[in-house]
Amino acid sequence: MKKDKVIFFDTTLRDGEQSPGASLNLKEKILIANQLVVLGVDVIEAGFPASSAGDFEAVKTISQQIKTSSIAGLCRSTEKDIKICWDAVKYAKKPRIHTFLATSDLHIEKKLQKTRFEVLDMAVKAVKYAKSLCKDVEFSAEDAGRSDIDYLCKVVEAVIDAGASTVNIPDTVGYTTPVEFGVKISEIKKRVPNIGKAIISVHCHNDLGLAVANSLSAIENGARQVECTVNGIGERAGNASLEELAMALKVRPHYYNVTHSIKTKELYNASKLVSRLTGIVVQVNKAIVGANAFAHESGIHQDGMLKARETYEIMCPVDVGMPESSLVLGKHSGRHAFFKKVKELGYKLDAQAAEKLFEEFKALSNKKKSVFDEDIIALIEEDSTVDNKIFTLEYLNVISGAGIPTATVKISGKKDGKNAQFKVFQEAACGSGPIDAAYKAIDKIVKMDIMLTEFSIRAVSSSEDALGEVFLKVKYKGNLYSGKGTSIDIIEAGAKAYMQALNKAKSFEIRKGNRYGKYDFRKNISRSLREKSSSVRRIYRTQG
Ligand code: KIV
Ligand code: ZN
Repeated sequence: MKKDKVIFFDTTLRDGEQSPGASLNLKEKILIANQLVVLGVDVIEAGFPASSAGDFEAVKTISQQIKTSSIAGLCRSTEKDIKICWDAVKYAKKPRIHTFLATSDLHIEKKLQKTRFEVLDMAVKAVKYAKSLCKDVEFSAEDAGRSDIDYLCKVVEAVIDAGASTVNIPDTVGYTTPVEFGVKISEIKKRVPNIGKAIISVHCHNDLGLAVANSLSAIENGARQVECTVNGIGERAGNASLEELAMALKVRPHYYNVTHSIKTKELYNASKLVSRLTGIVVQVNKAIVGANAFAHESGIHQDGMLKARETYEIMCPVDVGMPESSLVLGKHSGRHAFFKKVKELGYKLDAQAAEKLFEEFKALSNKKKSVFDEDIIALIEEDSTVDNKIFTLEYLNVISGAGIPTATVKISGKKDGKNAQFKVFQEAACGSGPIDAAYKAIDKIVKMDIMLTEFSIRAVSSSEDALGEVFLKVKYKGNLYSGKGTSIDIIEAGAKAYMQALNKAKSFEIRKGNRYGKYDFRKNISRSLREKSSSVRRIYRTQG
């Protein structure tokens, strides 16, 4: 008998982006969407178009670019939201409108201040309207986990009659338990007469750490779509993790007896990408993609592993795309080995970008004995997440030690944010530390009212001469922007990260059509144009 397929609906770009602190710009969302396609995700929820102009733009652009997976947009059950959603997803080859309305008494009475009857009516009208625009309509009964089963079945039946082809049963607050949730799904299957005309979907939150268990229990009871996110990111404690669901189905095929289209060898790349771009670090003991997921510490385990891997490992690291042992590059590695590695890491670069990258690799390998995969990824992604690079850090000189830390910086900038006419400016500032001094000097030039809200440093790879990576977030005009910078020198990494965040903020502002006037390089400092150099130099003198 042919096995049923479980549809993977990824909501990293919508629910995942609602994670505290995660905010992605358009370029970052497109990078993630492309990786989701490579991963084999069936439906990509690209955002909530009515929630902001940025979300609308992201859903529209992803709809225009992605040709394989379905692209869904989320909307409340109002005509206005649904129309905006359609205006964003209609460019997709396979568009989906995903409309939602709460069905628990708590939400109906307290949040919506309506009656069950009114909510049922609203849901039906919303689905009918959505269906008049789009043939693929999903309805979500928000807080279904705490909804009365009789009423929930009524709503599900009515929205299927109105045209919903997928009915989603979210455990919005992560309250249910696996057996209870499984029973809910099997009751819906049994009691809703027209259920055969729709796919049952589930969307589980992880407040009690049960999101994956609840989703799997739902699959056992007939759900055929799971909504999930890469690394399990999402509101509060997050959503069901895509990689855990996919691997559970792969490792236990006879138990679940379903198929899916996730290419599990791409899980690790997806996890790394999402973590890097959102700045949400994956805990080391995270199942499937955590750094320790395949690490064996105890002697007994290591002994068992050497005799037969299956003694202590239920899956191979290669099955999830974890590099077994990285071929380490160094200063003697040539073009061929380098480009082979770039390809293996899943990047396609045009000739110009490839040449620039090779030069950067050569420069790095002269400073650093071994160049690891992580180092190469850091080089590739350094500038790939900025839409329009307006400011370039040309020079950085920091004096630190016993005295007052002082920084001198030179920055070149595009004159009007669009053309390539550069002006270079320099400034100096003191600070409470070397990084603070550098940021103060940069602030004097860019004249943006920036607040640093997050800052972290880590080593990109494991060697003594590892690249340092700074990840930070800044607030500008009410929006958060992330920045990442890598260098052998952590102060330079910090300055690069700051510049990246400023570039994202400024290019977003320009895209939004704000006046460019505020960013007007001071007229009195153009003499340093002559000294413009393309590489960032830093002299770090320690006194005392
Ligand atoms: O958690 C939830 O209920 C949701 C819905 C909008 C699907 O995210
Ligand atoms: Zn959710």
